[in-house]
Amino acid sequence: MILSDDFISEIKEKNDISEIISEYVDIQRKGRNMMGLCPFHAERTASLCVYPANGSFYCFGCGVGGDVITFLRLIEHYDYIEAVKYLAERVGMSVEVSEEENLTYKKKLLIYEINRETAKFYYKCLIGKSGIKAREYLSLRGVNNNMIKRFGLGYSPNDRYSLIDYLKKRGYNVKDIMLSNLAFTSRSKKEIDRFSGRLMFPIIDVRGNVIAFGARSLSGEKPKYINTSDTLVFKKSSNLFALNFAVKSGKQNLILTEGYMDVVALHQAGFKNAVATLGTALTPFQAKLISRNVEEVILSYDADEAGQKASERAIKILKDNGLRVKIISMPNCKDPDEYLRSQGKNGAFKFSSLIEKSKNDIEFKLENLKSLCDISTSEGKIKYLTESAKILSRCKSTIEREVYALTISSEIGVSKEIISIQINKYIKQNQKNSLFKEFKNIEKSTCAFNDDINKEKRNNLRAALAEENLLSCVINNPGLANTIFSKVDENYFVTEFNKKIFICLKDIKSKGRKLDISTISSYEFSVKEVGRITKIICSYNSYMGQDEYINENISILRQEKEKNRFQNINNISETEIQNYIKKLNKS
Ligand code: UTP
Ligand code: MN
Repeated sequence: MILSDDFISEIKEKNDISEIISEYVDIQRKGRNMMGLCPFHAERTASLCVYPANGSFYCFGCGVGGDVITFLRLIEHYDYIEAVKYLAERVGMSVEVSEEENLTYKKKLLIYEINRETAKFYYKCLIGKSGIKAREYLSLRGVNNNMIKRFGLGYSPNDRYSLIDYLKKRGYNVKDIMLSNLAFTSRSKKEIDRFSGRLMFPIIDVRGNVIAFGARSLSGEKPKYINTSDTLVFKKSSNLFALNFAVKSGKQNLILTEGYMDVVALHQAGFKNAVATLGTALTPFQAKLISRNVEEVILSYDADEAGQKASERAIKILKDNGLRVKIISMPNCKDPDEYLRSQGKNGAFKFSSLIEKSKNDIEFKLENLKSLCDISTSEGKIKYLTESAKILSRCKSTIEREVYALTISSEIGVSKEIISIQINKYIKQNQKNSLFKEFKNIEKSTCAFNDDINKEKRNNLRAALAEENLLSCVINNPGLANTIFSKVDENYFVTEFNKKIFICLKDIKSKGRKLDISTISSYEFSVKEVGRITKIICSYNSYMGQDEYINENISILRQEKEKNRFQNINNISETEIQNYIKKLNKS
């Protein structure tokens, strides 16, 4: 143990878990605990529970849970040390960590440093002699010098040793350069630069670290764009290009585009809140990241079919994560960059009016639907009415539903009342479906169907529940731990997962350490497993601490253990069987 339990305890005492979590999620008091929307999965009803009394949280929807350190690791992608450091600094404590613990932390810092040096190098190359072609390209695309500076654009020279040579001269070793994904080993076993002959876009996180690069080919070489692969500090699906600027723009919304060049063009036109995904479809994690900074997203994807399909998927993800969505349509243009250029000096003004005219998600869906239905035919009308009623049934505001129903009614010539009846029918159906889904989920979790954490629970439900009761009892009443340990040992445990927890608790107690989720997390448990343990701990009720209750659960374990043993009769000796029969006759 390198960071002492006392130190961790102090950090946790001084950092109130509900205070930290409420920086990310709106949580409301419910009795002794607090509930809110889980930031780790998309949901509309609150299933994240925060337990200030024991400093833990648990999501009944997706099963994550743990202490405040786990929360920060999950939400900020911190490693353990980073999370501890963050919390310590927050309350004015300083952290002394050993070399060993510091290793990943140090590597991360080194990657940030190498990335920053690299960005500087590429920038120098762009404005220097070798960058002439790249500069010409940028000017051809209308990118001005201010944007080159703002984004720190760069050029990776054709010579595939230039970056490695530059960084080596500055004292960085090749292994670390490869760890930053800026170099790789070629077929001829030589280390070479990953990017060459490309226009470089540094990707910077909200804390100002250069975390990766995007690179556009200038020669027509395929693929057109390549990115840094995932590293210790970068995950393509969890970051956005230019989010660092957007969060500082002071705007309550941001403009989401598909491409680097769209962002650069929009910023040049004064839209400092434009961001882009990094060559993947929008992920729920990116939506969460956005929702932590703004409440509304103006979607400005490519106008082609692929872009429109991507918009539909993005709208769902954004809405599921509590964001308002508006969608821009650009007539006759491929993407925002092209649109702005096609409008010349009026670009900024024209784009502003596109934002003003942007549709909300319902209007966008209705319009797309209409383009697919030929409403001059009865068949087309029926399809349009049926599908639009489905769309409107998912719209939460009654007033909005009424307004759209009225529009559709006058478009098609069917009374508004009929449309409303149809909408209400779908609303009822949706409610029924969601109730059914909820019921199925409860059924699944109580019967431990598909339980991928404790796989044996499903077939040993009675034993597993008794095990969990005892575990919960030990952790919530450390004073009773020794009594329980004297009455029952790990051999009584039927399911391996619960047995592992039990052994861990015994070890913690024997070492005189604190029996809580933080100490447990320092043993070998995955994030999901820590979540499950938190759930077990938090399901505790005070009657569980009563002798009678403890004895009852121990006796269930004994019965179940015995039952299991006798199910496989080959393992049992003859005398054992005779004794068992005697016992059965007695009872
Ligand atoms: P597009 O192909 O729409 O290109 O890719 P673009 O943004 O209009 O690029 P320009 O204007 O020709 O320079 C959109 C985004 O998809 C990713 C990039 O992030 C790009 O900005 N992409 C595209 C890749 O990752 N790889 C590719 O080969 C192409
Ligand atoms: Mn483009």
